[in-house]
Amino acid sequence: MNESRRKLVSILQERKGTFVSGEELSHQLEISRTAIWKHIEELRKDGYHIQAVRKQGYQLLQTPTSLTASNLVPYLKTETMGHHLYHYDEVTSTQLVAHEKAREGAPSGTVVLAEHQTQGKGRLNRKWHSPAQSGVWMSVILRLDIPLSSVSQVTLLSSVAVLKGIKNTTGKECQIKWPNDLLLQGKKLAGILTELNAETDRLNYVIVGVGMNVNQSASDFPEELQHIATSLKVDTGEEINRKSLVLNILKEWEVLLDLYMAHGFSPIKTLWETYTSTIGKQITARTREGQVAGIARGINEDGVLLLEDASGMIHRIYSADIETPPCEV
Ligand code: BTN
Repeated sequence: MNESRRKLVSILQERKGTFVSGEELSHQLEISRTAIWKHIEELRKDGYHIQAVRKQGYQLLQTPTSLTASNLVPYLKTETMGHHLYHYDEVTSTQLVAHEKAREGAPSGTVVLAEHQTQGKGRLNRKWHSPAQSGVWMSVILRLDIPLSSVSQVTLLSSVAVLKGIKNTTGKECQIKWPNDLLLQGKKLAGILTELNAETDRLNYVIVGVGMNVNQSASDFPEELQHIATSLKVDTGEEINRKSLVLNILKEWEVLLDLYMAHGFSPIKTLWETYTSTIGKQITARTREGQVAGIARGINEDGVLLLEDASGMIHRIYSADIETPPCEV
């Protein structure tokens, strides 16, 4: 977002409920009153309700709840996360756009958001249902100085960040189903997809995609998802402000990334274990090689699930779909 427009929004926001004269704005922003007027017009196009009264000036009446840069960037509570933000009405997948932006050199913390995805991607090559305006479909570019083998730690970290962002916004505490599904009342609320770009053993960047069902009603989900998926609106009975959700998630994400870079995976692992519903449970893991049933004993330092079968043997599960209770073999 243009720096002058960002300042203008923050002044109007600080003085909400009162008029700020064109003259004062022009003085504070060091631009002409005509330029102020042009910015006001652009902000109105982005959904800001700004009243203009002759001889009194401008008053901010309502900020939009859509996820445009002008609606998010001035309110960020972060140092870097989200300061480069791209918003689209429709894309195939925010993951694809984020890869493009990363290849063009977009910095770490760049966020790509879309109101609607026509080819949303889920884990294990599944489709991700991403209807217009009702969810958060977001991909974040992270450039981290970590070994390739640690990327799954970043995925687990991201699921904790999303969980905390949801909790701070709605008071609702999800449970994490290994590796990174967020559940409410046992149904899937959000999922995370991590993709990376690397050369030999050097990590160039990671794209972490977050898909979160926010304002869908139960009947908005396709029939095949209705018994396994939920949204925040279904759970709380209220329309949720997507803007606050994104702002809170980005803030938590930055805090956890700072913690991770300073102290390693150990504090993140502890947090993840606090919120998971998987550990200690009898589960079945469906992997590409087949399925294994047993008790989930924990995760190791790489985020790998340790599953103990009936004979006491420990299986390391790197990637799988898990089910509780075990399915028929
Ligand atoms: C999962 O299967 O649980 C992960 C779903 C991840 C979906 C998100 S929505 C934003 C980003 N863009 C995509 O195409 N996928 C991820």
